[in-house]
Amino acid sequence: MGNHTVTHSVILGTGSYVPERVLSNADLEKMVDTSDQWIRERTGISERRVARADEATSHLSLHAANHALEAAGVEPGEIDLIIVTTLTPDTMCPAAACWLQSHIGAHRAAAFDLNAACTGFVYGLQAADAYIRSGMMKKVLLVSADVMTRMTNWEDRGTCVLWGDGAGAVVVGASENGRRGVVDSRVYSDGNGGELILVPGGGSRFAPITADDVHNKEHLLQMKGQETFKTAVRYFLGACKETLERSGLTLDDIDVFIPHQANLRIIEAVAKRLELSMDKVVITINKYGNMSAATIPVALDESVREGKIRSGDNVLMAAFGGGLTWGAALVEWN
Ligand code: UT7
Repeated sequence: MGNHTVTHSVILGTGSYVPERVLSNADLEKMVDTSDQWIRERTGISERRVARADEATSHLSLHAANHALEAAGVEPGEIDLIIVTTLTPDTMCPAAACWLQSHIGAHRAAAFDLNAACTGFVYGLQAADAYIRSGMMKKVLLVSADVMTRMTNWEDRGTCVLWGDGAGAVVVGASENGRRGVVDSRVYSDGNGGELILVPGGGSRFAPITADDVHNKEHLLQMKGQETFKTAVRYFLGACKETLERSGLTLDDIDVFIPHQANLRIIEAVAKRLELSMDKVVITINKYGNMSAATIPVALDESVREGKIRSGDNVLMAAFGGGLTWGAALVEWN
C-alpha cells in the first residue's frame, strides 16, 4: 500500500466460473406448471447452472478468482483487498470474502462483502476504482458471485425459472500504459422500492427464524416481476445515458454493451430505446439465466476470452436489482 495518487484504474485480468450441473427448461416443466416455450418467450432463458450441495459462494468465487489472477499475472500474496459482491454469502458471518481469502491464501488482503444485489458488480467496480485511484490499495480482487438456487422458491413458477448460479472476477490495479480503464461509474439506490425484490427471512427482521417462517418460505426470494420489469427498463436507460454524458461519449463510441441479464425482453427494450444495435450487446441469459451479481463479470470474462473485447474498446456495463439498486460503468479496455 502507498499514499501516492494514481490517475486511473484498469482491469488487469478477468475470470469466471459456472457450476457443471445444467437445469433445463424441460427439467423445470417436471417441477412446476410451466413450459419451455413460455420461459424462452417471456425471459430468453433455455437453461441455467446449479451449484452442487457442497459448493457455496466462496467456492464458486475461488475458481473465478484463480482464472482472473492467472489472466492478470498477479499472485494471491499481491492482493491488498478482496471485495465479494453477493446477496448469498456462505454464512451471515464471516463474509464470503473472508472465506475466499482463506481458500486462495491472499494473506495480505483485507476482505469484505458488499451487497447491492444484482448491481453488485457495478458497485464493486466503483469501490475498487476509488481505492486504487486514492492510492490506498494497489491491487483489488473483485468477485461477484451468487448461488441464487439456494434462495429460490421452487414452487413459485413466476420466479424459479429465472435464477442460476455463477461467479465472475476481475483484478483491478493502477493504469500503467496510459489507458483510461474505468472511465466513469454511476450507482444509485431507492430503498422505497425494497419490497419489489425481497428475501424477508435470514436477517434480523425474523430473528430467530422459526419453523413457521421457513414453512411460509420467508427465507426465500420473492419478486414482483412486472413492476420490477418496468422500473428496470427506466433505470437502466437513465444510468447508461448519465454515464455516457459525463464521459463525453455517445452510443456510437460504445463497442460492447454488457447489461445485467435478468430478462432478454428488458435487454432488448433498453437496446431499442438507446438505439444500440444488438450486435454490440452481450447475451448470456439463454445459457445461464439470472445469476444476480455474477451476470456482468461472467459475460465480461467470456467476451474477453472469445476476443470480442479488444484493447481500446469502450465497454459499457449496466445493472439493476434488489434494494432497489442500479448503476452503470464505462471501461476503456486495457
Ligand atoms: O435481476 C433482478 C431484476 N429482475 C428483473 O428485472 C425481473 C423483471 N421481471 C421479469 O422478468 C418478468 O416480469 C417475469 C419473467 C418475472 C414474468 O414475466 P411477465 O411477462 O411479467 O409475466 P407475468 O408475471 O405478468 O405473468 C403473466 C402470466 C400469468 O398468468 P395469468 O395470470 O395471465 O393467467 C402468470 O401466472 O404468466 C403466468 N406465469 C407463467 N406461466 C408459465 C408466470 N410465470 C410463469 C411460468 N410459466 N414460469
